[in-house]
Amino acid sequence: MAFPESFLQELKMRNDITETVSSYVSLKRRGRNMVGLCPFHGEKTPSFNVYTENGSFYCFGCGVGGDVITFIMKIENLDYVDAVKLLAQRAGMEVPENSYDDSMNKLRSRIFEANREAARFYYSTLLSPKGASGLEYLHNRQLSDRTIRHFGLGFADDDWTSLCTHLRGKGFKDSEITAANLGVKRRNGNGIYDRFTNRVMFPIIDLRGNVIAFGGRIMTDEKPKYLNTSDTPVFKKSANLFSLNNAKNSGNRTLILCEGYMDVISVCQAGFTNAVATLGTALTVEQAVLMKRYADEVIICYDADEAGQKATARAIPILRNAGLLIRVLTVPRGKDPDEFIKSNGKDGPAAFRALIDKSANDVEYRLNKLKQQYNTETTDGKIAYLEEAAKVISGISSPLERDVYISKISNETGVEKSSFNQQFKNIFKRSNREAAKKQMNKIQADLSGRSDKINSDHYKKPRSSSAEEALVVFLINNPDLAPEISDGVKPEQFQNSLMKRYYEYMLGRIERGLDPLNNVTADFTNDEASKLYQLLSQSIPAASTKEAMREYINVINEESKKLTAENAASLSDAEIQAYLDEIRKNKQ
Ligand code: CTP
Ligand code: MN
Repeated sequence: MAFPESFLQELKMRNDITETVSSYVSLKRRGRNMVGLCPFHGEKTPSFNVYTENGSFYCFGCGVGGDVITFIMKIENLDYVDAVKLLAQRAGMEVPENSYDDSMNKLRSRIFEANREAARFYYSTLLSPKGASGLEYLHNRQLSDRTIRHFGLGFADDDWTSLCTHLRGKGFKDSEITAANLGVKRRNGNGIYDRFTNRVMFPIIDLRGNVIAFGGRIMTDEKPKYLNTSDTPVFKKSANLFSLNNAKNSGNRTLILCEGYMDVISVCQAGFTNAVATLGTALTVEQAVLMKRYADEVIICYDADEAGQKATARAIPILRNAGLLIRVLTVPRGKDPDEFIKSNGKDGPAAFRALIDKSANDVEYRLNKLKQQYNTETTDGKIAYLEEAAKVISGISSPLERDVYISKISNETGVEKSSFNQQFKNIFKRSNREAAKKQMNKIQADLSGRSDKINSDHYKKPRSSSAEEALVVFLINNPDLAPEISDGVKPEQFQNSLMKRYYEYMLGRIERGLDPLNNVTADFTNDEASKLYQLLSQSIPAASTKEAMREYINVINEESKKLTAENAASLSDAEIQAYLDEIRKNKQ
């Protein structure tokens, strides 16, 4: 995917990073940089930095970084080519035609087209005689024709080839049908057959209205109950939510998070159009961040069974970390929201509204759970409850909010506020110390690269890696010194494989007279680019003198001469002997 260099350069010049970011994030000047609250993770103190000088951004909180294209990809949820197109459009620039290898892009748009065609086909099958059992099933579940149309529900018949045949007739290739996971290759290699058969179908639609996947429910008790599209070039289960396309237009910044398709549809039919669901997996951080873009508050509305309660406990910290307020709705009598609404007949919507109004925030929910666990009538039970409650409260960062709950609990239990306060303070100190320790460990791990998956060599070879990282940064900031640097160190001498790639790449670009950073977003993965921008944003003035440069070169040379278990295997006997001689010579 290569756009011409000159085009990208102009694109970036016309889309100033600070201006672009400012239209999404409120930025304040701090020294030479601009800082703000990171839009990609929930935070209360700003660690999101924008560097006007080199057109980059980096968040010290979540480690995301890049240039203006990366920023648009992330914040608008676009792929590289679409982000470039959007920026070009904003700057009033023409995107050069056919200038990039867009085979992946073509495949993606073919998959969108195939999915849309499949959704139409499933819908018309549902309304045809072949779909009678499906329509009856949906009617039995009390879905109106209007709801069925609104969600575009459909039916996959049991003939095993109808969809594939239909799509072929519309000009889709077998390879496109299987890439969309609408068809599956036969074991014997002879053609393809339908992925979904004899199921009612739920299309999953993204925020731009593309059909990206399907869920299919079997109408009997057979397993699996739901079958979903596997991940494809246009669909990642863990990064999408069912019905977010509807919910985002609901007009308020609250989302109702349900467990499944049917719950969302039922809740929506009852008039609450802001319902969404995960797609057959536990809630992910990506999904929470996605919700934060459209909501300030999430009402968790999982099943009342044990699995649902466990899932609630897991979802709470994920949503909190994304900066969302949380309420937990408890459906009475072990039902799921769909069953609850139905069991209330025509009063279903009002009954559900009452549950929403009654739903407590996450702290109250957790305290209530604790209270059910302990018998607070007995002294022992009361003490155990207070201890656990203090732990819940110590997780709240606002002192005011903490105080509200402390008062509430002391009222409830009849324990003097002051004595509970003391107990609470002890626990708070302890857990604060633990949190601080954890934070410290994490920082240390980050510094040593122990948790650095992208740059894992850093931890294995810290000394050479540090010098190599510093030299790469130095080279990018001082392209005019490239000849001197490349005379001093050859890429083969690098021990850190990622730094070696950067080094070769940057030298190559500088040699060709190109800006070293201009195409990083296209030529490296997002994580790799983030890593590079992290290194760039962490470099300090003292590290950018020529003296420092010579030091990096020395260290890399020294380290590359060291015999390691890995490179010893590839050395000849004579080379090993020469190496040993050198060590002896140095020792004298
Ligand atoms: N799910 C899934 N695969 C399964 C079972 C469940 O992907 N084999 C997902 C579906 O998204 C489903 C959700 O988990 O909607 C919740 O599952 P469950 O509570 O079992 O189903 P319900 O939503 O109650 O579905 P229904 O009312 O149709 O039985
Ligand atoms: Mn159900």
